[in-house]
Amino acid sequence: MWVLGLESSCDETAAALYHPESGRFFERVARQLAVHAPYGGVVPELASRCHLETISPLTHAVCADAGIALAAITHVAATAGPGLAGALIVGLSYGKALAAGLAVPFVAVNHIEAHMYAAGAEAEVHTPFLALVVSGGHTLLVDIHDALQYTVLGRTRDDAAGEAFDKGAKLLGLGYPGGQALQELARGGNPRAYAFPRAMLHDQSWDFSFSGLKTALVYFRRDHPEAHLPDVAAAYQEAIVDVLVRKTLRAARHFRRATVVLGGGVTANTRLREHFLAEGARQGVRVLLPSFALCTDNARMIAYRGWQVYGARGASTLDADIFPAFVAAPRG
Ligand code: KG4
Ligand code: ZN
Repeated sequence: MWVLGLESSCDETAAALYHPESGRFFERVARQLAVHAPYGGVVPELASRCHLETISPLTHAVCADAGIALAAITHVAATAGPGLAGALIVGLSYGKALAAGLAVPFVAVNHIEAHMYAAGAEAEVHTPFLALVVSGGHTLLVDIHDALQYTVLGRTRDDAAGEAFDKGAKLLGLGYPGGQALQELARGGNPRAYAFPRAMLHDQSWDFSFSGLKTALVYFRRDHPEAHLPDVAAAYQEAIVDVLVRKTLRAARHFRRATVVLGGGVTANTRLREHFLAEGARQGVRVLLPSFALCTDNARMIAYRGWQVYGARGASTLDADIFPAFVAAPRG
């Protein structure tokens, strides 16, 4: 069996092959960073064009990597949403056409669900567990019941955690996307040099809010132009990480979940990883951190989730449409 996974929801085009019998993956990723960087953000039209140019060559290349012919693909899974409409249409249409041409099942995959379940592609994960998805567009705390059913406990009320990193980086004069750059700058700084706000930390809800933190940084920069930038970056990063770690582990205790799984691009943040592992160990909660390639947008998680959904619910129909905004699966 060879499951092809296709990802084209934002600025990464990716094709992966998953061999469920052995658990092996092959993947090719084409990043568009250089295309969008001059604009300070992803330009949807340019993203769609890049996906269109690369999706077929990537699919052929990953088949060559795995040493199989295109005709050996037994299932095709593609991201249907959430994401940029024009970008999603490219991967979804290509996937559907390929599945129809090969006469194999097609599975439409929810990109956020793929992040939620991705850790299972590398490690044994037993349900129920808690998932925290932190990416450039989403911040979701989810209680996972089984392969199909989950409850969204909390989400961000404004900026996503990745956005907080990106906007903070911009205010500190770093490029786009800024998460990684802010982390590098923070490396030499003292996270306790300044105290940035931890919004909604002691709130009754499981929601998050990061826009006030960004505003706090704007005023801090105005009032303290002399401040040592690595200290500012470290303190700002600490405020984001602190809220994510403490609130997620509090939810794990509250819902009596022994395992917390992380997903999304912000999971690549080393301070977040260290802090989650240390606090998890202290509180007796198993914290599962997928490898970097599985945290950021990738097609491996799409192939894996496609296979999981296919096993639980069967194939999607070929009229499956894109959905630009996150829609949680109905329960029951
Ligand atoms: O999941 P992802 O690759 O794409 C989306 O679906 O959004 O996440 C991208 C986000 C960006 O906001 C980026 O700045 C952030 O993940 N990110 C990081 C790091 N690496 C990527 N944030 C903090 N520290 C990092 N090392
Ligand atoms: Zn993502």
